[in-house]
Amino acid sequence: MDEIRGIQKKIDEEINAVLREYCLLDKSFLNAVQYVLDLKGKRIRPLLMILSYRLFKDDINAVFNQAVALELFHNFTLVHDDIMDNSDRRRGKETVNNLWGNDVAILVGDILLVQAHKLLLSTSGKFMNDIMSVFTDMSMKLCEGQFIDIKGAYEVASTDQYIYMIKGKTAVLLASCLEIGAILGEASANDRKMLYELGINLGIAFQIEDDLLDVYSEQSVCGKNVKRDILNKKKTFLLIKAIECGDNEQKKKIYDYLHTTNVTPYMVDEIKQIYDTLRISEQCKRIASQYYLAAENCIKSLSVKEQAKESLRYFIKLLQNRKS
Ligand code: IPE
Ligand code: IPE
Ligand code: MG
Ligand code: MG
Ligand code: MG
Repeated sequence: MDEIRGIQKKIDEEINAVLREYCLLDKSFLNAVQYVLDLKGKRIRPLLMILSYRLFKDDINAVFNQAVALELFHNFTLVHDDIMDNSDRRRGKETVNNLWGNDVAILVGDILLVQAHKLLLSTSGKFMNDIMSVFTDMSMKLCEGQFIDIKGAYEVASTDQYIYMIKGKTAVLLASCLEIGAILGEASANDRKMLYELGINLGIAFQIEDDLLDVYSEQSVCGKNVKRDILNKKKTFLLIKAIECGDNEQKKKIYDYLHTTNVTPYMVDEIKQIYDTLRISEQCKRIASQYYLAAENCIKSLSVKEQAKESLRYFIKLLQNRKS
């Protein structure tokens, strides 16, 4: 859709403008920051913020600073996530940690986080408190979600614990993007709450699908290390469902894998085969579609004209069919 492409283009232009502001930085530091921002990504978060704002107001040029702040914040989480997950591929290229080492990656992430705050400082006074409070609460929940994630699957999680973790590491950011759009759009308290709820449902579906892509996508298509979650013994939805549904022999293989200190490529294949045999991907897709449906119900209950909801609906459909 033209509107979405137009917003994406403008986000890219604004990010380039931010990069030009970094002119005082050490050249090789600037290079590394530029490297991350040049690897575009889908720009989902700023798009969600702007599409949420667009439900209530038209002048989207007024809110690009906040939209770019949210994309920079997301990039900060990715750069630090790749250190934690020991990943060497992202968006089809080498990760910052792989190219320049963890120390540089920590600082590249930090500066993106600081720049996100700096951009939010431009928010007009009447929205500032609300936006900073949504943003900082979200940041804290995201750290907690990532903390639960890095503990790995040593203690096997229940579905409830898994959902709690992915709400933190993924969904609260999408939800906050929609809520910030609503605040800037001066939405009613109820619509603001509904948009946050929409983001939580969308984020949960999005992370379940991300777990699926880790196992069932090609590196050349998704741009990340595939099967890295299995290698890292991550608490993914696939693993939890396989433990729930597996027979004794399959469960034993999974527990042996979880208790080994050295996960071999053979073990990674064995775990994938268990997922295949149990058709875990179908279960995951079914659950993800329930969350998409819940997201759609949130859109339905927004008190704006149906026509105004079109772009948001269209964008969510695009997310559902993503390959990366
Ligand atoms: C990746 O997010 C991290 C997750 C929350 C799963 P995206 O898939 O939105 O990453 P980019 O920005 O498009 O690369
Ligand atoms: C994403 O989790 C959460 C954050 C980046 C905060 P993942 O570790 O699954 O994300 P990818 O798969 O590396 O993008
Ligand atoms: Mg991770
Ligand atoms: Mg990761
Ligand atoms: Mg992942």
